[in-house]
Amino acid sequence: MGARPPSSIARNSKPTPEPQEQLFDTHPEASLDFEIVRQAARQRYTRPFLILDTAIVRQKLERFRAAMPRVRPHYAVKANPDRRVLKALVQEGCGFEIASTAELDLLLALGVPAHEVLYSNPMKPRAAIAYAAAKGVQWFAVDSVDELRRVHETCAGAQLYVRIATPNIGSDWPLSGKFGAGASETREIVATAARLGADLAGVTFHVGSQCRNPENWRVGIEKARGVFDAMLKAGLKPRMLDIGGGFPVRHVKPIPSIEVIGAVVNEALKAFPEDVQVVAEPGRYMTSDAGYFVCRVVGTTVRGGKRWMHWDAGLFGGIIETTEGLKYRIRCDRAGPDVPWNVAGPTCDSVDVVLRDEPLPSDLQEGDFIYIRNAGAYTTAYASEFNGFPLPEVRVFDSSRREAR
Ligand SMILES: Cc1ncc(COP(=O)(O)O)c(C=O)c1O
Repeated sequence: MGARPPSSIARNSKPTPEPQEQLFDTHPEASLDFEIVRQAARQRYTRPFLILDTAIVRQKLERFRAAMPRVRPHYAVKANPDRRVLKALVQEGCGFEIASTAELDLLLALGVPAHEVLYSNPMKPRAAIAYAAAKGVQWFAVDSVDELRRVHETCAGAQLYVRIATPNIGSDWPLSGKFGAGASETREIVATAARLGADLAGVTFHVGSQCRNPENWRVGIEKARGVFDAMLKAGLKPRMLDIGGGFPVRHVKPIPSIEVIGAVVNEALKAFPEDVQVVAEPGRYMTSDAGYFVCRVVGTTVRGGKRWMHWDAGLFGGIIETTEGLKYRIRCDRAGPDVPWNVAGPTCDSVDVVLRDEPLPSDLQEGDFIYIRNAGAYTTAYASEFNGFPLPEVRVFDSSRREAR
């Protein structure tokens, strides 16, 4: 886990340099106050919970806008679809990005105008396309001729944007490989749109989630510029650039600040005329460091000479991103020396292993709280009730407004 002794912070040992002091790290800290989290756990604990401060979400949005004044953020609802989080973003005038009908309905119920919503899932059922179009959604992503036809046949007036494949180098949760049209596929999509008279009017890409490499945005924007040129040549009217999500948050590895990424993006955007609408789809960046995920040790044992610790939340309870190697900062209230632990969730499924050989205090035991920092995104959103374990509770407050919700 690199330079972090996660638990030692809570153990009141000597101060350890925060990761942002590491070389190449330019991201100032933004995180929920740990004392608030500990108190919340002590006051009441019935099941794992996420505690999240929407004041931090508001600050992150403001900071994103300041770093990239030309780029309109559309929050990726999938990162954390909690109504109270969405409401805070609606109040701040944020746009949104959706993957499904259910996400659209959530936004419509909060009064979000449908034209503020980008439908960026590159593969959509016809019924979902028709529903969204009927509600007033205007923009739909495609990354194949098949999807282009499906959207165009379902809603001839839709504005389409093509998702192109771009490098995901240096992203902790890569998204390339599944979505994104390659160069020849993009040519085919452009030619088909021109032939059908479909309004292919934009380009998008995703650099990979938790992307620590600003160059990915520069390369993505340059490639998009090339696709704009091909669209113009084909007689299409390109007018929207969507630079996707991927903006990173603090965990244990050094990350570039949003300002550093913004400088790269702002420079690359100079290749696009002012009347091109530029948007982004930040998800993790907006909600991750606004929250802590709290769970508890159910029990410990030794199996085959290995220490095992079982928590009351595992992969199915929302702590799933560790499976791709994402490293959280994990805190606890114990002071013992770190030893390697295997950490499992509470279910009987053998896949439910959250961490292997994770250095954590040797004296952790049944009933202890585990605090996972900056876990406001892609935790509760993933959780299921598999094996009959309850969904985590989501406690939301706004420290700037003093209103408990
Ligand atoms: C189409 C699309 N847009 C935006 C996002 C949000 O990405 P992130 O949370 O890394 O900002 C995702 C994440 O999977 C995505 O698939």
